[in-house]
Amino acid sequence: MADIEASIATEICGVKFPSAVFNAAGAKDVSLEDLDALGQSEAGAIVIKTATKEFRAGNDLPRWHADGSGSLNSMGLPNLGYERYAAAVPRLKEHGKPVIASVSGIGEGDNELMLAAYDKAGVDMVEVNLSCPNIAGKGQLGYDYAASRKMLENCRRVTKLPMGVKLPPYFDRSQFEEMAAVLTETGADFVVTINSIGNALVIDPETEEKVIAPNGGLGGLGGGYVKPTALGNVHMFDQILGGKLPIIGVGGVAAGTDAFEHLLAGASAVGVGTALVNEGPAVFMRLNAELRTVLEEHGYAEPAAARGKLKDKPGTSA
Ligand code: DHB
Repeated sequence: MADIEASIATEICGVKFPSAVFNAAGAKDVSLEDLDALGQSEAGAIVIKTATKEFRAGNDLPRWHADGSGSLNSMGLPNLGYERYAAAVPRLKEHGKPVIASVSGIGEGDNELMLAAYDKAGVDMVEVNLSCPNIAGKGQLGYDYAASRKMLENCRRVTKLPMGVKLPPYFDRSQFEEMAAVLTETGADFVVTINSIGNALVIDPETEEKVIAPNGGLGGLGGGYVKPTALGNVHMFDQILGGKLPIIGVGGVAAGTDAFEHLLAGASAVGVGTALVNEGPAVFMRLNAELRTVLEEHGYAEPAAARGKLKDKPGTSA
């Protein structure tokens, strides 16, 4: 092992994180107890569940499934409503790590209203979620570039906080280029990628049933199933944006090496979803220790030193 002692701290948009590993919005972050547990854990930040203007109970149960390969969910945005979260921010800040709010308004003007309230409440950063796949009758805004542009222009007007954008996965270069232009032209400060891969289906062949109940059994795919897609999205955005926007990589982080791969691909930090739901907030103690070890083994003093250091595979002619 290289004889360096690596830090796992990082900085994004001037905000200091004690660890570059924290929860992805939506994982164990709905109740105030969940949020306090994240505060007490080794998570590098507290990311609050994507909020709507009003309380939502969410979709019918079962709405979450996990297996050895990953997860499928159709939660349906269960959340307390932004006012409860905003009121809790001063207390959450006492945990001594950044607090990040996430919003996904259902009605016109909802995001602007919530962002203004979160700004006042003292969160460190905000994430505009353009990619919830589980609201019946509501498409993912992130696949509509004109609508995304309009939404982000409106959001940019109401918050001076570092504003990130939570994106759905993309699969074609033209999609990355379209969204990268929207992000730079609307003044987004950071990127969060990927949200779950929408409209996936997991089947239990024993029972011949779908594994979740809502939305005809279709849901958002996460965990190990999506890691290569997540890494590809992190890398494509880092390349197309020329490394100018920090990226929080989400998708398939279940070990320190997974976090390391996200850093190599171009991320500055990583969000943990499926592994957090599976293991609870103690997962951060394990992931932090594993990330520290892998950074040291590879001679990187901190996560930022590994960012974008991915090497090409040398090729020879066939
Ligand atoms: C939900 C799922 C998402 O992937 C998301 O970005 C927001 C909300 C949900 O179903 O609750």
